Amino acid sequence: MDRTFHIVTFGCQMNKLDSELLQGALRKRGFEPVRDPRRAGVVLYNTCSVRRQAENRVFSHLGAWQEHARSDPGFILGVIGCMAQRLGRRIIERFDHVRLVCGTRSFLRVPDYLERIAETGDRVVALDQGPFSFERDPEFRPQPHRAYVSIMRGCENYCAYCIVPQVRGRETNRPPDEIVEEVRRLCDGGVVEVALLGQNVNAYGKALGDDVSLAGLLEQVNAVRGLRRLRFITSHPADMTEEILRAVAGLEKVCEHIHMPAQSGSDAVLGRMRRGYTRGQYLELTGKARRLIEGVEISSDFIVGFPGESDEDFELTLSLLEEVRFQQGFIFRYSPRPGTRAARWDDDVPEAIKRERQQRLLAAQERVDAERRASLRGGTVEVLSDGPNRGHRQNGGSIGRTRHNDIVVFSGPEAPPGALCRVLVENSTPLTLFGRHPAR
Ligand code: SAH
Ligand code: SF4
Ligand code: F3S
Repeated sequence: MDRTFHIVTFGCQMNKLDSELLQGALRKRGFEPVRDPRRAGVVLYNTCSVRRQAENRVFSHLGAWQEHARSDPGFILGVIGCMAQRLGRRIIERFDHVRLVCGTRSFLRVPDYLERIAETGDRVVALDQGPFSFERDPEFRPQPHRAYVSIMRGCENYCAYCIVPQVRGRETNRPPDEIVEEVRRLCDGGVVEVALLGQNVNAYGKALGDDVSLAGLLEQVNAVRGLRRLRFITSHPADMTEEILRAVAGLEKVCEHIHMPAQSGSDAVLGRMRRGYTRGQYLELTGKARRLIEGVEISSDFIVGFPGESDEDFELTLSLLEEVRFQQGFIFRYSPRPGTRAARWDDDVPEAIKRERQQRLLAAQERVDAERRASLRGGTVEVLSDGPNRGHRQNGGSIGRTRHNDIVVFSGPEAPPGALCRVLVENSTPLTLFGRHPAR
């Protein structure tokens, strides 16, 4: 069989990490990654189901391979990830040329399935929901100096709008020793920044016993030699504890940046979403974070147009955004997902109103962000370099990220990937800070 492959990844960080893990598993078995999908013997789509639009994009990609698949009978097109888990057989029924569908807990067996397909000509649908292995070979990763590390999988929160619990399955915690060991190996191999991943990392360890928690894990990972920065995503407001906030404040490597989606600013909507907190509690929490953690920035996701969201509800979201002054806000239009609780309700906010609300929130967020960025000018920030800047707002200089995850393009002596630099901020645009190092 043609053992060249290409993976196209949609969706969240978990999917990006899964694609990395799969790439490692494939290379171990003698498969060879290629940049150009048109030259690959195997093309795999790692997919997201969180909104209908995300799924439609994948459908149109899949459709576009029909001709190619017909002209090359050895070619294998596969779908993995959340859409595979959600739709299963329906994908191969809809597309004759898709030969593999593999769910979120079985994807590490993709090399076996590919060999079987090549030998027998069968099509394979694998949706096993059994135990998941977190195993990874630290040699295979896209960036030499940054890595994602999964600390839990699945989600059992069942927010009313969300498909994730269905497609990612039960919450599974990874033992702390295994996580620390992986971080150690990564850092021995040159990694300096690690992001711990889970759908709700604040709940980490609850199922493992009283003495395991995210705060404790942060402390253990913080002690790993060679590590310079530590992040964790995503935080759920209902599970955030003072202990975690204190860990962020007290541990030098943990970045002062918390991604903690509010989703809405209206208690009525939050209640129907089953988020488990009120606007007041959310504000209390962000206030506490600000008091405890010097210079903390908070970012959020929002959903507009949830069933029954009135103009007043929306205004409350807008005012929450302005009150908290988020560093970043991702704003989504509600999309009903089959099988979720909210999908039983009337999707009663017209698309035009959803768009208008999305635009208004975006504009408000941009305003808040522009003011924050302007206030950074003339000051210095710590930047972790990703190396030479190729093509981001023109070539030249180096590019990297602040502790708040802002992108910075900066001049001065070349900063190799993984170098920590003090950068003087000279200018800012909506997506990028500009500066020079060394800051004097
Ligand atoms: N576990 C994370 C992220 C889940 S998905 C969390 O709890 O925050 C990422 C974001 O997609 C969510 O925060 C939410 O804002 C958005 N989202 C999820 N389901 C959606 C839906 N049905 N329609 C629109 N946006 C949705
Ligand atoms: Fe979805 Fe809620 Fe779980 Fe996040 S916490 S993945 S929004 S069910
Ligand atoms: Fe999407 Fe699956 Fe992540 S539904 S957001 S890729 S967990």
